[in-house]
Amino acid sequence: MKSFLNVQDLGDLKEALREAAEIKADRYKYDTLGKNKTLLMVFFNNSLRTRLSTQKAAMNLGMNVIVLDVNAGAWKLETERGVIMDGDKSEHLLEAIPVMGSYCDVIGIRSFAGLADRDYDYAETVYHQFEKYSGKPVFAMETATVHPLQAFADLITISEYSECSEYSENSDSSDKRKRPKVVLTWAPHPRSLPQAVPNSFAQWMLAADVDFVITHPEGYELDPAFTKGATIEYDQRKAFEDADFIYAKNWSCPGVTRPEDYGKILHDYHQMMHWTVDAEHMSWTNNAHFMHCLPVRRGMIVTDDVIEAPTSLVIPEAANREISATVVLKRILQSM
Ligand code: CP
Repeated sequence: MKSFLNVQDLGDLKEALREAAEIKADRYKYDTLGKNKTLLMVFFNNSLRTRLSTQKAAMNLGMNVIVLDVNAGAWKLETERGVIMDGDKSEHLLEAIPVMGSYCDVIGIRSFAGLADRDYDYAETVYHQFEKYSGKPVFAMETATVHPLQAFADLITISEYSECSEYSENSDSSDKRKRPKVVLTWAPHPRSLPQAVPNSFAQWMLAADVDFVITHPEGYELDPAFTKGATIEYDQRKAFEDADFIYAKNWSCPGVTRPEDYGKILHDYHQMMHWTVDAEHMSWTNNAHFMHCLPVRRGMIVTDDVIEAPTSLVIPEAANREISATVVLKRILQSM
């Protein structure tokens, strides 16, 4: 694997989940695979989970790790071509990328959407520049439109907690309820957030064997490139009925129907607090598990009682980030 951006890059999902289970049973099984190989993690944006879990994954595989926080000590980077660099940006990404590539064997990139230019963001311009100019395998640690390491960890978690899933060892193929119902719900937030997490979650759920429903206020339709085949239900209560997993996330307007609204918050969040996932919302479900990628704003996305309930999976979900990253790095190392 030379690049990891979309679910298709991983190939057969059942095989990927089998590998995840193998790694989880013995996360040091491949601890010599990365000997004398260096991972460079490049962060254009903040991180807690991705930084720690990916570094741990690399260490599981015996790799060396370098972390670069572009906005904390490096030269400020220009990313656009054709500009006269007379501002505060001292270095162009097109020189910086091959230089970075010369010091490492694999590169992870975190580069969020700017939410100003939809075409630029949805072309994954920064990620593809790394792909093209680094000369090294690259993988997304949340880019402008996707967060595949998160979605893979989410799928691992759902497979582990699905009593009726075909991914569960206890599954009975004759059980008509074997497809868990998974609901992605929009929830309010005071700031404009990218669509990377919901895009990837939708893409991965649609590739998995689950009954997948997305619910959000009108105007927040995600890009069909990620959601084609999903059921969209604007009535949040109806969407939650019989759900086995509730995955909450805020996202700003994807600009699908009105490109001029791209990246905007369409309604004052004070008017949207009825979308916050609370105990009443969870009572509409099939005693569903609550999921969120974290970090999460309590009282906005979810109430304290729901996130602290025994049915909440936010901690095991975050822990599975180490597993998803170990599988992805293992695949990359094995293909070098
Ligand atoms: N879920 C996630 O990617 O967390 P961080 O932003 O802290 O890395």
